[in-house]
Amino acid sequence: MSDTWNPASWRGKTAKHIPEDYPDATALERVEQTLRGMPPLVFAGEARRLKSLLGDVAEGRAFLLQGGDCAESFKEFHADNIRDTFRLILQMAVVLTFAGGKPVVKVGRMAGQFAKPRSSPVEKIGDVELPSYRGDNINGMEFTAEARAPDPERLLKAYAQSSSTLNLLRAFAGGGYADLYNIHRWTLGFVNDSPQGARYRELSEKISEALTFMAAIGVTPDSHPDLHRVEFFTCHEALLLGFEEAMTRVDSTSGDWYDTSAHLLWIGERTRQLDGAHVEFCRGVKNPIGVKVGPTLEPDELLRLIDALSPANEAGRLTLYGRFGHDKIADRLPRLMQATKAGGRNVVWAIDPMHGNTLTAANGYKTRPFDRILSEVKSFVEIAKAEGVHPGGVHLEMTGQNVTECLGGARALTEGDLADRYHTHCDPRLNGEQALELAFLVAEKLKEDRIDMARRVAV
Ligand code: TRP
Ligand code: MN
Repeated sequence: MSDTWNPASWRGKTAKHIPEDYPDATALERVEQTLRGMPPLVFAGEARRLKSLLGDVAEGRAFLLQGGDCAESFKEFHADNIRDTFRLILQMAVVLTFAGGKPVVKVGRMAGQFAKPRSSPVEKIGDVELPSYRGDNINGMEFTAEARAPDPERLLKAYAQSSSTLNLLRAFAGGGYADLYNIHRWTLGFVNDSPQGARYRELSEKISEALTFMAAIGVTPDSHPDLHRVEFFTCHEALLLGFEEAMTRVDSTSGDWYDTSAHLLWIGERTRQLDGAHVEFCRGVKNPIGVKVGPTLEPDELLRLIDALSPANEAGRLTLYGRFGHDKIADRLPRLMQATKAGGRNVVWAIDPMHGNTLTAANGYKTRPFDRILSEVKSFVEIAKAEGVHPGGVHLEMTGQNVTECLGGARALTEGDLADRYHTHCDPRLNGEQALELAFLVAEKLKEDRIDMARRVAV
């Protein structure tokens, strides 16, 4: 790997999953040029702040909650959808903060999560073969030749959508919506009358009581503005490197390069080749970076990947998301954790329990059984504990909408239910109820951990 990095140096490497079939290459260049002149979506100082919070996660003092759509879409772009995912993250954060007794770092898979790697570049229906759908910032989902041709104008539309999504998120995070005194108001209508809804109400009662007590002793939103707002960050997969390159700027305060399209960028399981374009691009930007770690990755390769992406070994720079599958995690994860621990690599270990647990139902729907998702999260926490590693966080595909995409959960969704409200543009997401149920489960595990620790200290 050469040391001469620049925002375009990835172009000299093999770039997987990036479309090469734009009908008009100069139109694409024009759009990229336009993007270069657009305001950054995030400020480098914010990315540094997230890195420092993730440093706390790496050192066991905080927990990472990262979630949102598998793929955002132009069609589902609506203030209500943004609000509903945001409030679900707030609810889950409350549950996790309360149980774990540690701050929760809140990161939305939002405001830029469009492009998708696909298992096949083409899709065949009957005798017709067309390019696969690659995400709304590249082509259209409709199965026609026109829709499936990559259109660079979509990048501008995605930029605009990301910018207004982020604007609303910032308003919610700082403008009073996220005020802890609003804790009762975040419940989504359809979750309200479920067991999770009841559990959440009980918890918010307790927290409200604690807030009243604290106010009585002088801890109020006036004296502690953090009660009134949250820090909220965005992330997406750094897949479409032409776009990421165009959004990459030198930060005038530090002189460093930052990808200003989101606070955190991650490299997917399919594009994490050491000598590939995605690792090349990400190694040069100073944002916090993530990497998906799947069942085929061996410890020595993981260490090399860490050293390429985090040469200064700074805590918070790199987050690893295990995504093995409920039946493979016990076999694969321990040796990887042993390697990072023995090698003294400062990383956050988190779990993506979605991507290793995907299957196709008999009726053709791509789905994920909720019990397998839960099982992989449980195994993650147990393995981390056994290895003496902090189980740092979860990365989820979820939505505040009442969709029927994952099987099971408290309402025991069946294959027959999938057709009811299957809206995802890519992978099946947890709905609000399922996501909250998962948060409660993780909370129980974190609480056990906290009590164990306290006991060990007391002895
Ligand atoms: N700012 C604190 C935090 O983010 C407290 C807080 C305010 C909070 N609103 C919240 C925590 C909503 C969770 C959810 O931890
Ligand atoms: Mn996905």
